Amino acid sequence: MNETFTIAVDGPAAAGKGTISKALAAHFDLPHLDTGLLYRAVGALTLTGTDPVTAARSLTADDLGRDNLRTPEVAQAASKVAVIADVRAALVDFQRAFARRIGGAVLDGRDIGTVICPNAKAKLFVTASPGVRAERRYLELTGKGLDITREQVLADVVARDDRDMNRAEAPLKPAPDAVLIDTSEMNINDAVTAAIRTVETKTQASR
Ligand code: CDP
Repeated sequence: MNETFTIAVDGPAAAGKGTISKALAAHFDLPHLDTGLLYRAVGALTLTGTDPVTAARSLTADDLGRDNLRTPEVAQAASKVAVIADVRAALVDFQRAFARRIGGAVLDGRDIGTVICPNAKAKLFVTASPGVRAERRYLELTGKGLDITREQVLADVVARDDRDMNRAEAPLKPAPDAVLIDTSEMNINDAVTAAIRTVETKTQASR
């Protein structure tokens, strides 16, 4: 696979992958794919009765654009469909085609460095303590007007991490060559700076 400048960003729920990936994409002038959105879109369709494999095989741009995809209910549904091998298989080609774009791309998810782009130029594994991640997601969701408690958000994060790490198919784990960034004690600027530095170091080393 010819991955000129693919950046893989993986990590557990609400670790800040999305914010960091968007900042990396802006800094390096690359397109960004939030692969969690694919699983969320499939999960959302199952909540309205669609079979998960059928949903994954016929996903449309409209499905990805729906506005309820960020709710904890959809997140749970996403992590349930994400254990199904045929669902994951149906989403591989789209992700790899995105990763192979001329000039490169940033992809964030759970299995980008391990399965989707094993030859990525730079791999980051972004994490933080469950309490810190839950607090950040709580502020994000309540900021959007969602009526939810801290306890519910923490329970969602812990349940998804457990399901994501312990599934047979493409479990969440750092690739052997991923650089770990623990953002528990960092603000967003520090985390982005650390991520940019890591990518620069990795890409310079491979020149
Ligand atoms: O934003 P957050 O980290 O909470 O979740 P997300 O990235 O939107 O992913 C939602 C769910 O999709 C995860 O809990 C995983 O179960 C699944 N997922 C996956 O299995 N593989 C990926 N590459 C991306 C997401």
